[in-house]
Amino acid sequence: MKGKNCLIFGGTGQIGRNLIRKLAKSNYKVTVITRNAHTKGNFIKTQANAGYIDIIEANPFDENEIRPFIEKADICINLIGILFEKGKKNTFNNIHANFPMMLAKLCHYNKIQQLIHVSALGIDKATDSQYAISKLNGEKNVLKYFNKSLILRPSIVYSVDDNFSTTFMTLLNRLPIFPLYYNGNTKFTPIHCSDMTDVIYNVISKNTNSKIIECVGPEILSFKQILTILLGSIGKKRFFLPFPLFVAKITAKIFELMPNPLLTTDQLTLLKYDNIASKNYATNSSIGVPAKKHFRLEVEKYSYMWRDGGQFAKKND
Ligand SMILES: NC(=O)c1ccc[n+]([C@@H]2O[C@H](COP(=O)([O-])OP(=O)(O)OC[C@H]3O[C@@H](n4cnc5c(N)ncnc54)[C@H](OP(=O)(O)O)[C@@H]3O)[C@@H](O)[C@H]2O)c1
Repeated sequence: MKGKNCLIFGGTGQIGRNLIRKLAKSNYKVTVITRNAHTKGNFIKTQANAGYIDIIEANPFDENEIRPFIEKADICINLIGILFEKGKKNTFNNIHANFPMMLAKLCHYNKIQQLIHVSALGIDKATDSQYAISKLNGEKNVLKYFNKSLILRPSIVYSVDDNFSTTFMTLLNRLPIFPLYYNGNTKFTPIHCSDMTDVIYNVISKNTNSKIIECVGPEILSFKQILTILLGSIGKKRFFLPFPLFVAKITAKIFELMPNPLLTTDQLTLLKYDNIASKNYATNSSIGVPAKKHFRLEVEKYSYMWRDGGQFAKKND
């Protein structure tokens, strides 16, 4: 059987790297568009056997550059996303709303089979967050301009390869006192990256009638519970300090001055809202792809890198 051609934007990120392996192993031919083939290509090309992957360096925002690849694609997957804005072009609006609109129009024009657009969970409630507004506009654009679009809304996606659990373990390792925003009460449904890519694989390989699918892990955890699990996993004790909102805002403003901020005021706004299934849309469970991996058990598998003494040390050594 001839495998389908999957064109992936943002394929060098956490979800993309995991997805490429899954697709190529299942006989799909994958083309990854990246801005940085020289820095990211080396790793990506080890994720598939020769002949199953093409890595193309191109400006994803240049319609003329990407059109020839869309013409050849059966399925297009958009994984491009940012957590903070930088400069005049890397804005939430450009990346989360305008780019998906251009992609949806090209997919429509070239009559491809399906566009999978990865958005984010909880964005319709977070009406005062610029990130959420842009993601929601992106969804509207995609659905408006290409009727064979499917939107996936994941909660936090974690793995050994993430910027979430690994960053928090580094910070928990180094800071004696750890700030808690909103008393650590915000709820999340972390989904393991391989569970997330199972959902993407499933919606590509099977027909699904849903237009929006919320992708959640098997458990609801508060921010404080997540931190407590990570601390337990690295065998450390730390003091959690609840930050009043005005202090949190000041620290976020200071962080924003850094080239890669740990927290921005917009992320602080987003953190106010629970990141759990809304019950208004289908979920990965309702379409038959429930998440299998539990946060504590999965984190245990790689947290030794942050533990004193490394993999073979006992937690209290
Ligand atoms: N990870 C999560 O916890 C999570 C949760 C909810 C939603 N999502 C969404 O899921 C999607 C994929 O997530 P991910 O964690 O795999 O993403 P990621 O690792 O942060 O980034 C994905 C890719 O986007 C491209 N990209 C980043 N900034 C860009 C820019 N300014 N211009 C053009 N391309 C840019 C990069 O590709 P190149 O450098 O190769 O061009 C990058 O590898 C994103 O839309 C994200 O918002 C993720």
